[in-house]
Amino acid sequence: MTHKEIVDRIQQLKKEKNAIILAHYYTRPEVQDVADYLGDSLGLSRMAGETDADIIVFCGVHFMAETASIISPNKKVLIPAEGAGCSLAEGVSGYDLREWKKANPDGLIVSYVNTTAEVKAYTDYCCTSSNALKVVQSLPKDKKILFVPDKNLGAYIQKVTGREMEIWNGDCCVHDRIDAQMILDKLEQYPDADALIHPESSCSHDDRVLNHPRAFMYSTAGIIKHAKESPKQQFIIATELETIHKLQADNPTKEFIPIHPTAICGQMKKVTLEKVLDALEKEQHEVRLPEDLRQRAWLPIQRMLDIN
Ligand code: 13P
Ligand code: SF4
Repeated sequence: MTHKEIVDRIQQLKKEKNAIILAHYYTRPEVQDVADYLGDSLGLSRMAGETDADIIVFCGVHFMAETASIISPNKKVLIPAEGAGCSLAEGVSGYDLREWKKANPDGLIVSYVNTTAEVKAYTDYCCTSSNALKVVQSLPKDKKILFVPDKNLGAYIQKVTGREMEIWNGDCCVHDRIDAQMILDKLEQYPDADALIHPESSCSHDDRVLNHPRAFMYSTAGIIKHAKESPKQQFIIATELETIHKLQADNPTKEFIPIHPTAICGQMKKVTLEKVLDALEKEQHEVRLPEDLRQRAWLPIQRMLDIN
């Protein structure tokens, strides 16, 4: 099939089956282009809850589709790339959290949304990179907090809020490699550019970056907003490189400089247009959880959505 035939068939099946395609900004450009809604993890979670489609084709990694299925149990949630995982989600287990709770019965667990349903089931509050500061700031001051699984996002939140937390030692294999020196070098090389940085990067809690007047820490949606609203013409993009597809589409005359050519999430790239078509055609691979687990995993997500 040609590219056009695949796209036409996807559009036809979407109508016939009352399906919606949700895609994360890190997916391939051709996948982003067939999406009904393109977003970061918070935006996609919200959209999964709001849509009246019968089928959600979730173009992203597994924990994201799982989150959509937790939020929307009456919809059929399909993941085109069944094996698309995430180094953060794999870095902590439900068992780890259960043990922590045993040792700290009054403590609160805040989990980044990049976690499995099993981990969410032991979590008090979920957060995404868009709302992590707000969620942590909303918690009672006298409670001990465990933040999982991203050590860089955790250290960033701790630094900005001044709130002491126990922080898990997980990382994103894509962002962890973005260090302070890389950012400082690029800012020097491009003296008119702003650096827009995802807080999963290892530079997120380095004072040289945090105090730099042209360095900004944002979720993916925040990066996109800053680039659109800023009068500047040049931006250093310190996150997954496919984000530039949306940035360039929104701002055709502005220049986006990738932080490093290897800032690519191979797991997100497992979602191909052919797999999106297969998912719609065969209604595969459905993500569905046992109802008791779903209900437990839903609570911290609901608390997060209520805070925003
Ligand atoms: P966002 O919350 O910005 O979508 O990030 C999700 C993610 O997986 C980052 O690596
Ligand atoms: Fe997970 Fe990192 Fe890929 Fe995001 S970029 S999905 S955190 S591995």
